[in-house]
Amino acid sequence: MSAEVDVKQQVREFYDRVGWQMVEGDLYQNAHYEDLRPVSSEYIHRCHLRVARHLKSSGRFMLDAGSGPIQYPEYLRYSQGYRFRVCADISIVALQEARKRIGDHGLFVVADVANLPFKDEVFEGVVSLHTIHHLPEAQHGQAYQGLYRVLARHSTAAVVNGWPTSRLMQVFNPLVRLANRLRSFAQRRLGRSASQPEVAQVAKKAKPANKKKAPKGTFTQRHGVSWVKNEIGGRMPVEIRVWRSVSVRFLRALVHPWLGGRWFLRILFRLEEHFPHYFGENGQYPLILITKD
Ligand SMILES: C[S@@+](CC[C@H](N)C(=O)[O-])C[C@H]1O[C@@H](n2cnc3c(N)ncnc32)[C@H](O)[C@@H]1O
Repeated sequence: MSAEVDVKQQVREFYDRVGWQMVEGDLYQNAHYEDLRPVSSEYIHRCHLRVARHLKSSGRFMLDAGSGPIQYPEYLRYSQGYRFRVCADISIVALQEARKRIGDHGLFVVADVANLPFKDEVFEGVVSLHTIHHLPEAQHGQAYQGLYRVLARHSTAAVVNGWPTSRLMQVFNPLVRLANRLRSFAQRRLGRSASQPEVAQVAKKAKPANKKKAPKGTFTQRHGVSWVKNEIGGRMPVEIRVWRSVSVRFLRALVHPWLGGRWFLRILFRLEEHFPHYFGENGQYPLILITKD
């Protein structure tokens, strides 16, 4: 088995057995990677909706490449005006869960985002969120090329993936580390873990289908800003805007209700709206827009 097939097999198994298993209530283990605290919810909600702004509001087919189970309610809006949302994922569990959510509005295809089994220019809208980073680096270009190939003319594809490093997050790193140390210290002193993020606590209880200890994560590889500009921008029209400029680690460490966290995030959102390209390139998560004229 080639190393690339091996990696994909490993990613698929992770999502089938762990990532898309419900842990408690209606949360997937994958929610471990998101900040679901009320203090951050408005900001996160508004960042999710940024994707919809750039997609055509209606059409016949919208592709969701690496759809997962369509886990957040905002995701449903992207395809609201389309006849079908085509969910493509290597995880069958993801697609089974997505079907529960959208039923007849969906068409469900087990497929590799680096080898999309669709005709040229059939999708009037394309999204691929947090998926290309699961491919070996050498296949990222091929995946972007595939998304561009299946995109219809006069349409836009929206791709979200984190950068390997973010200049903005690096600036705040010492503060994040300090906040985390203080929290650990307080927890040791108090002998409890009350300030641990709820979701992280819940995720720890994730039980895989088999009884072996569940891995916490799976393979990821990321390219930086200049690679996207040069490699992808050299092949198709690309714009890098902000999706969300702060990481979950930053949110959990520094954004709290008692520190005016909700207001801080409102101001941050406004700044991101005013300077989308700066925050897109220097923040944690860009929204990469590909257009075909
Ligand atoms: C982090 S999850 C994101 C899911 C969803 N897009 C979201 O934002 O919630 C990554 C998804 O990509 C899928 N995936 C990983 N590698 C893939 C590949 N080579 N082809 C298609 N899907 C893939 C996984 O099975 C998983 O459902």
